[in-house]
Amino acid sequence: MINPFVNLSNKISGALDNRRDMRICGEKLGVFVPSPFGEDVGATGCQSAPYRGLDKILKDLVLTDMDSFIDIGCGKGRVISYMVSRGFPCRISGIEINPEVAEVARRWTSRYPGVEIIEGDAFGLDYNDYTVLFMYRPMETFTFKMFIELLESTLTHDIRLYYYVDGQSGYYLNDRPGWTLLTRQEMFFVRGFYIHKEPQRYSVWTYSPDKRR
Ligand SMILES: C[S@@+](CC[C@H](N)C(=O)[O-])C[C@H]1O[C@@H](n2cnc3c(N)ncnc32)[C@H](O)[C@@H]1O
Repeated sequence: MINPFVNLSNKISGALDNRRDMRICGEKLGVFVPSPFGEDVGATGCQSAPYRGLDKILKDLVLTDMDSFIDIGCGKGRVISYMVSRGFPCRISGIEINPEVAEVARRWTSRYPGVEIIEGDAFGLDYNDYTVLFMYRPMETFTFKMFIELLESTLTHDIRLYYYVDGQSGYYLNDRPGWTLLTRQEMFFVRGFYIHKEPQRYSVWTYSPDKRR
């Protein structure tokens, strides 16, 4: 059973996230939407990342106008909202397979000119167009593995990958040629609140095709 104090703290953290959504997006992004695709597709449901988690993971992120950021499985756009609030000078994109939630992201981002929401399957994009990739566990383990293999077979330049909630599948990148772990940390109690119902891990990686050869 989840500790009632953790539960309450989690709810307050969610309410604060709603407030931040309203300020940046003009609507709340927090309600979970199950995936309409069967488990066989390997897509997770639409769960928005907590802002406090993003504050911690992306605290040191520096982007120039030469960079290009993409949230893979952007859902309703919570990560995009965080990125917009940071005012980075580069293109910010999200790709989302579920049309119902992609529509939400497209609706509220239409007022931000540097943001692009792509409705479609993350397996159909060329990631050479991006320098920083973000994933808030969009895929089940077997799909995640296929996605990593796609990156390895197509990328021609270095990228950085932020992988939030890497507990089930992050091991796949361990000791893998070309991948370098920059940090791996646990996330639970952040700036006064329990932001998850149980501790979650995240990791930050670089991938360099040259180091793979
Ligand atoms: C856990 S949610 C994360 C949402 C968002 N990144 C956030 O933090 O607010 C994962 C999302 O990934 C999407 N997704 C899963 N597989 C995908 C794929 N192959 N291509 C595009 N989106 C995908 C799901 O539909 C879901 O909305």
